Amino acid sequence: MTAACSVVGVSSRDDNEPDRADFLNAACAVIDRWAQSNPGNVRLRLADTDDLSALHSLNSDAIMGLGEDGLFMPMPKSFLSEMIRNGIILLIERGGEPLGYSVAVPAGRDHPPFIPGTDSGRTGLLFGTALDQAMRGQGWHLRLIRMRKRIFSEAGFVSAQSTASPFNSASLANLMNSGFHVSGLKNLLDGHPRFLLECELAFESGQRSEPTGRQRHVLLPKAGNLSDHQTLLADGLVATGIRKGQNCTLIYSRRPEPHSGEPNP
Ligand SMILES: CC(C)(COP(=O)(O)OP(=O)(O)OC[C@H]1O[C@@H](n2cnc3c(N)ncnc32)[C@H](O)[C@@H]1OP(=O)(O)O)[C@@H](O)C(=O)NCCC(=O)NCCS
Repeated sequence: MTAACSVVGVSSRDDNEPDRADFLNAACAVIDRWAQSNPGNVRLRLADTDDLSALHSLNSDAIMGLGEDGLFMPMPKSFLSEMIRNGIILLIERGGEPLGYSVAVPAGRDHPPFIPGTDSGRTGLLFGTALDQAMRGQGWHLRLIRMRKRIFSEAGFVSAQSTASPFNSASLANLMNSGFHVSGLKNLLDGHPRFLLECELAFESGQRSEPTGRQRHVLLPKAGNLSDHQTLLADGLVATGIRKGQNCTLIYSRRPEPHSGEPNP
């Protein structure tokens, strides 16, 4: 079987930043493995600049379908082009028709981590996914989150970060059900609130540290006031669980101590 993906002539950006060639090779390896076990008519590949119009249309259609501002980030062609240059965009196609995309970029000089105070070294950023209606409700979002985590993990990254609107429950639930926890809340450049999410990639090999202590279940409003969530997050709690229903509930508990190698006092 021919490889779905290959990388040629890519050099490292900076000695202090993860090697771009390693990242692209990991992306190709993950895509090729997926193609080998999914020989159907849906194809996954890395987008290039010839795909910018299609990517932009998918983004605009998804935002229009959501019907409200601030649930998904508008991605002009200039932004998508920068993502292709500095990271990857996974593109889903069926019969040559682009039906969805998902963005992953190593944190670094041009793209600082979403969570303030995080060291950008070896942190991967998940920027967003848009699916055509034809691809929804089939597990594609979960699959694309897990594939991007695996790409970062195989390229030697230690953590991944993402953002989700508190009012976009589909996006938030899929991230949380893939091992991400909510550890912050802030208004992004578009003026709309986003939860800041992070995930230890060690979780891939079963080494995730679990938060402990009393759990607090906090209702997530469909819009408006998030002060209960803001207060808990400012107090250092993290949301590690989500219950979907008529309304969503987030489950908060105390943040786990980072692995320091020191014995507990
Ligand atoms: C968010 C998104 C990526 C989720 O993709 P997905 O693979 O369909 O995710 P799921 O299968 O978990 O379904 C999510 C929800 O859509 C619903 N759904 C299922 N099939 C659907 C369809 N054909 N059309 C619309 N919604 C559908 C599911 O029932 C689920 O609803 P729930 O949240 O009430 O349970 C996708 O809905 C999308 O592209 N939305 C627009 C862009 C966006 O919001 N991106 C999020 C930023 S990352």
